[in-house]
Amino acid sequence: MKDEILRALRETESYVSGQELCERLGVSRTAVWKNIRTLQSEGYEIEAVSNRGYRLTGVPDTIAKEEVGSLLRTHRMGKEIHYFSQIGSTNQYAKKIAEEGAPDGSLVIADEQTAGRGRSGRSWVTPPGEAIACSLLLRPKLLPERISMVTLVMGLAVVRAVNALYDVHAGIKWPNDVVIGGRKLCGILTEMSAEVGEVHYIVIGVGINANLTSFPEEISRIATSLKLELGHEVNRAQLIAQVMYEFEGLCERFEADGDLRQIRDPYNELCLNAGRSVRVLDPAGEYTGVSQGINALGELLVETDGEIREVASGEVSVRGIYGYV
Ligand code: BTN
Repeated sequence: MKDEILRALRETESYVSGQELCERLGVSRTAVWKNIRTLQSEGYEIEAVSNRGYRLTGVPDTIAKEEVGSLLRTHRMGKEIHYFSQIGSTNQYAKKIAEEGAPDGSLVIADEQTAGRGRSGRSWVTPPGEAIACSLLLRPKLLPERISMVTLVMGLAVVRAVNALYDVHAGIKWPNDVVIGGRKLCGILTEMSAEVGEVHYIVIGVGINANLTSFPEEISRIATSLKLELGHEVNRAQLIAQVMYEFEGLCERFEADGDLRQIRDPYNELCLNAGRSVRVLDPAGEYTGVSQGINALGELLVETDGEIREVASGEVSVRGIYGYV
């Protein structure tokens, strides 16, 4: 109910009467008042004036359930929100609740991860109060071999969200690293439970360096944050809500076709590798070529010696000729 109260208070600059809140939420005035008191104790500044009602004048820096919930403009993504001030890994937790039957669209959010996981067995740093770590549980009706494409869809959603909210030019390093100024802002880790021909569920984990100002030595040269790029902090809850909004629209198009035919062009416009020289780190032998962006299956097209090779994610890494991008 707290997220509904916040949503109602956000919709107007002026006061919302207690009566209006009671009617909208279908609860008693006492219930509204108790929830307002709880929100105030959680750091929300809510003015209460008799005969006028309630007015929101300040919000805490939080990505808790009611804050994100009150900002969401989605139908499916974030249908249930599970928030933790500290957790090992949101992906791990999302997989656990998936096994227990949590619905499609459930979103797990944590303010801090103590065992955040990156791709290829690496770790992922999520210090308290600074980063975004969230995992979305989906139960898509898609074949298992199509699922790797959903990671590209999420990469595009994050880039669009960042570019829509802030004065920066984020792009995508294929397949799904979100990059600003040649440095990595966000990583995505998609995990899946499936059998041959059938997906049980997938978990898409998103880690965004929102307000970090320092990184571990080993990644400090390739990582960045929105705070470092913009020179000010960003509202993490608003960014999560925007990512979910962008992802919902893109994912619907992806699921309708089972491939990226509708997403390929917008992806390629933001793909930093497109039209540039790349080095393909193929275990069967490295080679260089000029990337032409992705095809409808999310494979990177690389022209080398007059021939176009289709590079599938998962099998290889791609680097720029002179560095990370
Ligand atoms: C990468 O290596 O680029 C992927 C990083 C993915 C990190 C996110 S943070 C939220 C979710 N929970 C995890 O443990 N990992 C993902």
